[in-house]
Amino acid sequence: MAKQKKRRSAVKSSQTQHSKPSDEAHRPAKSVKVKKPQPTIPFHAEDRILLIGEGDFSFAKAIVEHHGCCDVIATCFDSKEVLLEKYQPQAEEHIQYLEDEGQTVLYGVDATKLSANKALNKGELYDRVLFNFPHVGGKTKDVNRQVRFNQELLVKFFAAAMTLLATSGTIVVTLFEGEPYTLWNIRDLARHSGLKVHRSFKFMAEAYPGYSHSRTLGNIEGGGGWKGEDRDARTYVFQKKGVQPSSGGRGAKKRKRDGDSSDEGG
Ligand SMILES: C[S@@+](CC[C@H](N)C(=O)[O-])C[C@H]1O[C@@H](n2cnc3c(N)ncnc32)[C@H](O)[C@@H]1O
Repeated sequence: MAKQKKRRSAVKSSQTQHSKPSDEAHRPAKSVKVKKPQPTIPFHAEDRILLIGEGDFSFAKAIVEHHGCCDVIATCFDSKEVLLEKYQPQAEEHIQYLEDEGQTVLYGVDATKLSANKALNKGELYDRVLFNFPHVGGKTKDVNRQVRFNQELLVKFFAAAMTLLATSGTIVVTLFEGEPYTLWNIRDLARHSGLKVHRSFKFMAEAYPGYSHSRTLGNIEGGGGWKGEDRDARTYVFQKKGVQPSSGGRGAKKRKRDGDSSDEGG
């Protein structure tokens, strides 16, 4: 019976397609639902999460406030004084929020020297180590040298982060799409570091309300016309080689959707 009903409505919609314009033809077909791409979130609320290279801590705030993360250590490279100056006035409010929520904020944390950092090495390993938009800053105008500096940062970060990672934990890195970022060859760097690319997917900034991309140099006076969160970006999820993938966060089963690729090479 149900099948018959379906068939009948299919006929109706095909008739609508071929008939001359009428009221009926202008109404959107009920069966055609345009699905908005759903963001993939590469962590669970209960994960022990280490955030590296935060800018104004808006991402850290978003995952606590909107994703219910409750075991977060959010770190930045700069000293507290430098950071507050760079990302004035918003960083202070974000940090205050995190601390009020019982989360940890650490300053002066070098992504390349994580294992030597006593505050991060208190025995417990991390389920997720995230570094959004790693970048050494404008060290040089020479593209090749700049690529090399950033590759060096990533390779050292991978080595350091692996020492803190739980057995089936993941390292999550998000980069802008296109050149010069594609020249970094992040997948190869990870493979040579003993990691495998578990998956990659489109980064959707709207999944993190309040997140705004920070530039390494700090806020641009007047805001500037360039908004990192509006640019195409991709998230890569890495695991230690030889480890069975854990779910890696919500949406992990929805492969091949929303630009999702399970690698190798996607
Ligand atoms: C483009 S910003 C992105 C900031 C932030 N993650 C975001 O998504 O808005 C690049 C960040 O990488 C950080 N960074 C550069 N070298 C680093 C290092 N050795 N250790 C930790 N962070 C580093 C910078 O301080 C800066 O915050």
